[in-house]
Amino acid sequence: MSALLEVAELSVTYRAEGGDVNALRGVSLMAEAGEVIGIVGESGCGKSTLAAALIALLETNATVGTGEVRLNGRDILSLPEAERRKLRGHDIAMISQDPMTAFSPVLTMGDQIVDFQQHSGLSRAARRARAADMLRKVGIADAEICLRRYPHELSGGMRQRVAVAAALMANPALLVADEPTTALDVTMEAQIIHMLRSLRTEINGAIVIVTHHLGVIGELCDRVYVMYAGQVVEEAPVDDLYHAPRHPYTQALIACDPGALGAGQGVLPTIPGRPPDLTAPPPGCGFAPRCPLADGTCHSKPPPRVRVSAQQTALCHKVVS
Ligand SMILES: Nc1ncnc2c1ncn2[C@@H]1O[C@H](COP(=O)(O)OP(=O)(O)OP(=O)(O)O)[C@@H](O)[C@H]1O
Ligand SMILES: [Mg+2]
Repeated sequence: MSALLEVAELSVTYRAEGGDVNALRGVSLMAEAGEVIGIVGESGCGKSTLAAALIALLETNATVGTGEVRLNGRDILSLPEAERRKLRGHDIAMISQDPMTAFSPVLTMGDQIVDFQQHSGLSRAARRARAADMLRKVGIADAEICLRRYPHELSGGMRQRVAVAAALMANPALLVADEPTTALDVTMEAQIIHMLRSLRTEINGAIVIVTHHLGVIGELCDRVYVMYAGQVVEEAPVDDLYHAPRHPYTQALIACDPGALGAGQGVLPTIPGRPPDLTAPPPGCGFAPRCPLADGTCHSKPPPRVRVSAQQTALCHKVVS
């Protein structure tokens, strides 16, 4: 049996003036229905590129080199655009960083959310009632009033709640959220995290959350993929990631800020040095220049993926199973 979502050795390159950017370099991950997966890593490591691949909506200058994204066994990146658009309306939903961009400014929330389910076969009145019901589930008490509002008449936190409600209307198999709380203040962020947590039982599919915030991971995710320079460098259940991180990059993240993972508001700490230039990735480990353990092999040879337990792997020369 294949998993609900499987990404196998995915490589994505952007054509750019300064040279092709190797944004994803052999990324593999999987998620089962009911799981919440976290994708974490510092700026530019390829998180949004991966999120775009998961919803089959890569930028026009992006090329898929190798690999596949399979949803229920179907290779979604090789489907014609019309099929991919259909998938995004039915099977895959997305919550973006800035929910303002997800909505048209000239239509009421009601008109937009009700549109989301045109294919449902329900009457408009039934769809509107369902939308109101969904808004209540995301914590909007006065759903009828909200449905009559335009996007600019709602706060950022409210808009994000509506975006989540809209995403859930189609009962998607896969919900992808790219930095869903970044545009919000700390209080709003905590509320949205709490709301997503309480919605877990409402969502039948898998949820993939991309985030800089260790707190989001600690509070929401079951398993985490740590990305570095276009690769998954560690995969682990959230507790193991916190208590027994194995990759030196993950260890540095956790050691810099051990309280952040459970505290709710911690963001990824800064580690001295910079990630490699993805137009010319190094032959060895991408983290070697910043790694306290690195030796000659680390700089010259690609690291192996070492399985340290049934659910944990690390891409590192220095990790032993
Ligand atoms: N459309 C594009 N054209 C060219 N290069 C791009 C494009 N989009 C992203 N990149 C580059 O690809 C790499 C990965 O970018 P991506 O946006 O996926 O990273 P990210 O982890 O989401 O970063 P952030 O945390 O800042 O959102 C970066 O080097 C980025 O500059
Ligand atoms: Mg991003």
